[in-house]
Amino acid sequence: MQDDVGTGGHVPVLLERVLELLEPALSRPAAGPAPVVVDANLGLGGHSEALLAAHPGLHLIGIDRDPFAIDFATRRLAPYADRTTLVHASSADLAEVLDRAGRPVIDGALFDLGVSSPQLDEAERGFAYSYDAPLDMRMDTSQELTAGQVVNTYSTAELTRILRVYGEEKFAPRVAGLITKERAKEAITSTKRLADIVREAIPAATRRTGGNPAKRTFQALRIEVNAELSALEAALPAALDALALGGRVVVLSYHSLEDRLTKQALTARTKDTSPPGLPVPLPAHQPRFRLLTRGAELPSDEELARNPRAASARLRAAERIRVDD
Ligand SMILES: C[S@@+](CC[C@H](N)C(=O)[O-])C[C@H]1O[C@@H](n2cnc3c(N)ncnc32)[C@H](O)[C@@H]1O
Repeated sequence: MQDDVGTGGHVPVLLERVLELLEPALSRPAAGPAPVVVDANLGLGGHSEALLAAHPGLHLIGIDRDPFAIDFATRRLAPYADRTTLVHASSADLAEVLDRAGRPVIDGALFDLGVSSPQLDEAERGFAYSYDAPLDMRMDTSQELTAGQVVNTYSTAELTRILRVYGEEKFAPRVAGLITKERAKEAITSTKRLADIVREAIPAATRRTGGNPAKRTFQALRIEVNAELSALEAALPAALDALALGGRVVVLSYHSLEDRLTKQALTARTKDTSPPGLPVPLPAHQPRFRLLTRGAELPSDEELARNPRAASARLRAAERIRVDD
């Protein structure tokens, strides 16, 4: 994380679209109660800053599990300090965070999933295969489990599963097998040694195509260390449940596993679940939400030219159209 609040040219992903989608939910009549938005992945605070600037009455609850992100965003959002509540927590605890903030009902929620630019760029965080650093990958530096512990203590079968499921690695058994063999000689403690092991495990013909072969293994370890998918499985339903009528959620995901979970959570709430063949629809089975996006929206070529890190972004959004009786 930088020392000052310079953002190092960081551009929030799909910012204009995020603002446009949340706008109707966050623009309430001046006489009404102040609208509340949750940024469940505060990071550098780029999206949050733009939301606060666009909506003068808005209260923002920002959550990040990375203490450096909270420090940085606190400084960046200082001009809005009276309208922000920034919390060091996992979004898995979103419902509890809202309760503690005294704002159990919200008007908007934003998820900008995955890793931040500083997490990737600061070598010592151990997220990147392009630097040699200790195998860390913890977003929350106060947690115990590191990538080094996963690599050196999980069984070959567990490693294979993680690499296959979270990394979608075709050669998961070969990579896991070589990791177990190598760690028996000496513990694997650096990103470079792990990247070298993965390279060696992948067949030469495959190595020549499709970018760095360590990419999938590093993604898998990062997801495991930070329990990223289980956090999303808890956080997104909690945010949807907390939305007021007319409230909106926007989710930016960066790989197919996140996008699949997002799609499932949104689709489950936008479907009529009435048993087939009924003469009248049952209110209790009517959808509580409607989709605001057709499938997943992708960044435009123009955005990609400005912001190469948006390359894998997928955006989905929904609006609450009915509250439980
Ligand atoms: C892509 S960055 C967000 C960037 C931000 N939207 C901005 O404009 O600066 C993702 C952030 O989410 C955080 N994060 C990831 N999983 C989390 C979780 N389960 N709970 C809280 N924060 C999480 C990471 O620490 C990281 O700072």
